Amino acid sequence: MATVKELGYIGIEASDLAAWEAFGVGVLGLQLASRDDASLVFRMDGKAHRITVTHGPADDLAVTGFDCGDAAALDDIAARLAAAGHAVQEGDAALATSRKVERIAVSQDPMGNRVELYVGLADAETPFEPGLTRSGFQTENGGAGHAVLAAKDRQAALDYYGILGFTVSDYVVQEMAPGRVIDAVFTHCNGRHHTLAFADVPGGKRMQHFMTETNEMQDVGLAWDRVVRGGLAPVTLTLGVHANDQMFSFYMHTPSGVDWEYGSGGLIITDEASWQVKQWDAVSTWGHVPAPLLAQALTP
Ligand code: FE2
Repeated sequence: MATVKELGYIGIEASDLAAWEAFGVGVLGLQLASRDDASLVFRMDGKAHRITVTHGPADDLAVTGFDCGDAAALDDIAARLAAAGHAVQEGDAALATSRKVERIAVSQDPMGNRVELYVGLADAETPFEPGLTRSGFQTENGGAGHAVLAAKDRQAALDYYGILGFTVSDYVVQEMAPGRVIDAVFTHCNGRHHTLAFADVPGGKRMQHFMTETNEMQDVGLAWDRVVRGGLAPVTLTLGVHANDQMFSFYMHTPSGVDWEYGSGGLIITDEASWQVKQWDAVSTWGHVPAPLLAQALTP
């Protein structure tokens, strides 16, 4: 059974492109590959693009793109999606060109998110310039990053993404405050502990957060300094380490209101056969303190 290889790219629709340019370059340390009135294209490695921000009112996730590896795999995944009742449409040459891929098909997950299945994402014509990061981004093992998607019907999400080859990594259930329970399922399609997680997230956004991972932990501290000392973005969760994927990270609001997790050191699943699915009762081993709680602690 063919499976997707990685989450190769995402697209975000945003109302304020200028703010996103400042955030992408000046906070995240992404390389701006191109910009015009309608979109910003960011690189995070040798690929032509990884994160594209398109002008529009949604301020939310617009698309996820999954690398199928080759045409036969794309055909197989598309056929199994169709057999399960999910419409899949072959993308035309214009779409393939705009995404810089050899071939593309378009589907929709049960939450209504646009999902693109592609083959052959182009390399950029120039080497990646790491910008504000010292170590660059960890994309070799697992693609662009991970996303937590809002899903009221968890099983429908698992069924759909199961066809793409995602399997459950683990579960986290934690009561964060009386009546506020985090209940999420984490799934992987390659070594990255999770590429997609699903939870019944309040707030109406399609995506709760997206995570990019730097090669070295120092870059997370440097980003923290940029954000906190420079007041560049509202911090939502302080530095901390996640229990399940061991990611050292912090969270902040993007200009679109969805969160961005800036991390390093995430767990790579090296042996699928011996992987044990478990349920964690804590999101974090330490840290990831909500900003209001930190503010309270800092008040004399
Ligand atoms: Fe995350």
